[in-house]
Amino acid sequence: MLEVVVIAFWAMLPAYIPNNAAVLFGGGRPIDGGRTHNGRRLLGDGKTWRGTVAGTLSGIAVALALNALSPHVPNGFLPTFPVVAMIALPAGAMGGDIAASLMKRRLGRDRGAAMPGLDQLDFVVGALLLTAIVTPSWFGETFTLPVLLVVVVLTPLLHVGSNVLAYGFGWKDEPY
Ligand code: CTP
Ligand code: MG
Repeated sequence: MLEVVVIAFWAMLPAYIPNNAAVLFGGGRPIDGGRTHNGRRLLGDGKTWRGTVAGTLSGIAVALALNALSPHVPNGFLPTFPVVAMIALPAGAMGGDIAASLMKRRLGRDRGAAMPGLDQLDFVVGALLLTAIVTPSWFGETFTLPVLLVVVVLTPLLHVGSNVLAYGFGWKDEPY
């Protein structure tokens, strides 16, 4: 059981870090360039080029660091990331978060409005989906059903926890 939790956390870390890096390094030009549809922004000022690039690069850096670490972890049960997964996990996480903002704006929610469920799982769905597409074999070996179940339960807890912390430090405008 503990092993499954550790694998889930390890395998998803390159998808978890990008959100936090985007909060820290985000800002500047919005991806949608200010464009609107039916009087509402396509994505909003909360999705920026700098945040997306910084988030993706930080996720790749985390995957590289975990690969360097895994030989030193006893028992050898931890996954190592192939290059495609190193890119797909963070890029998919950023993509899922952007897709959720697109949906939120179409549903009439302004930037920063909370959508419980979507806010916590958008990047998980994006990361898993893109990874499953680019490397189905590694995805199947790593994200077994028990691991996936842990990811779905663990992620919202970690996401809420880290956002409350980031809000407390004044890095984020809302605690979600
Ligand atoms: N951020 C960014 N680029 C991204 C994702 C996030 O620059 N691709 C930064 C923005 O400064 C954003 C903050 O991280 O305000 C928090 O991210 P998030 O909660 O996803 O954005 P919100 O501002 O809440 O906007 P939305 O309602 O669209 O989710
Ligand atoms: Mg938000």
